[in-house]
Amino acid sequence: EQSLRSRILELNKMAAKYFYYQLRQEGGAHAMRYLKDRQLSDETIHHFGLGYANKYSDDLYRYLKGKNIPDELLAQSGLMQVDEKRGMYDKFWNRVIFPIMDVNGRVIGFGGRVMGDGKPKYLNSPETVVFDKSRNLYGLNFARTARKKQLLVCEGYMDVISLHQAGFINSVASLGTALTSQHASLIRRYTDEVILTYDSDEAGVRAALRAIPLLAEAGVTARVLNMRPYKDPDEFIKALGAEEFQKRIDDAQNSFLFETDILQQSYDMSDPSGKTAFYEAVAKKLVGFEQELERENYLEAVARRYGVSADSLRKMVNSIALKGMNFSR
Ligand code: CTP
Ligand code: MN
Ligand code: MN
Ligand code: MN
Ligand code: MN
Repeated sequence: EQSLRSRILELNKMAAKYFYYQLRQEGGAHAMRYLKDRQLSDETIHHFGLGYANKYSDDLYRYLKGKNIPDELLAQSGLMQVDEKRGMYDKFWNRVIFPIMDVNGRVIGFGGRVMGDGKPKYLNSPETVVFDKSRNLYGLNFARTARKKQLLVCEGYMDVISLHQAGFINSVASLGTALTSQHASLIRRYTDEVILTYDSDEAGVRAALRAIPLLAEAGVTARVLNMRPYKDPDEFIKALGAEEFQKRIDDAQNSFLFETDILQQSYDMSDPSGKTAFYEAVAKKLVGFEQELERENYLEAVARRYGVSADSLRKMVNSIALKGMNFSR
């Protein structure tokens, strides 16, 4: 007998095809218009298998029942909601559908976006036996074939799709969750360098600060792209185009300096003791580099950047390193 995994994968494929088809029917015209308004080409819409979930909340359910799919399997697929009063009904309706594929291109789940300002903006499939959000990255099935030395890691479906359309097919996104250590290990299978292209808002900065050490732990170095004054890669590319985005990739900031720049914001640099406290915090971070040459290179870069003499900073670092040693044995 077929395993539950393969039955759900097969069901997902049926659903993806159904959504894809509905986008091209009369009832999906407004969804198609939405995607075109967001400047996606027919080729891109096809490439990512985008679709539309009809406005009736039992549309997919009836379609799949027509194919004799048992309720039990439907419930386990994440495609349906189960409610004591209402029974079983579609998880996604009147939304643009983004099928989520694993590295091998199998549909493991879906994201659905409202067309307009409704809430929630995105709905995602729940975790199922085939869908583990912390172990899959949207777009990786395409990005892995890119033959680029880095991966671009961004926040959202539309970012990956816009980047892909602009030629940056080496883009991936984590799926409505923060980057996990499992994501970092997954990334390490393909590259040892990422460019973080998270949104330029506070949430994006926080996400980058959390991702950097996880990536480092997995052996992946990160640089951080400056998206300003735009909010995310999709908006940036629409406004300034691919060439300007490439320049931002080339100029992406070393993650250590990104971290120290953020750190600096919580110190009063116009006050001598505030300044000293900041240098001490930086020195503490520098102690983390175990390799002397690397530590020295960062020390010099930081000294130049924040206007402190390399000698004083080195003294601070050495004294912190000494204190950290344990002579009590
Ligand atoms: N997300 C989600 N649920 C939400 C909001 C966001 O799962 N209610 C996830 C989605 O994967 C989304 C990503 O977080 O793509 C980034 O969110 P956000 O920056 O708010 O959306 P955008 O990707 O910029 O979406 P759009 O451009 O379509 O407005
Ligand atoms: Mn393509
Ligand atoms: Mn965001
Ligand atoms: Mn965004
Ligand atoms: Mn966006």
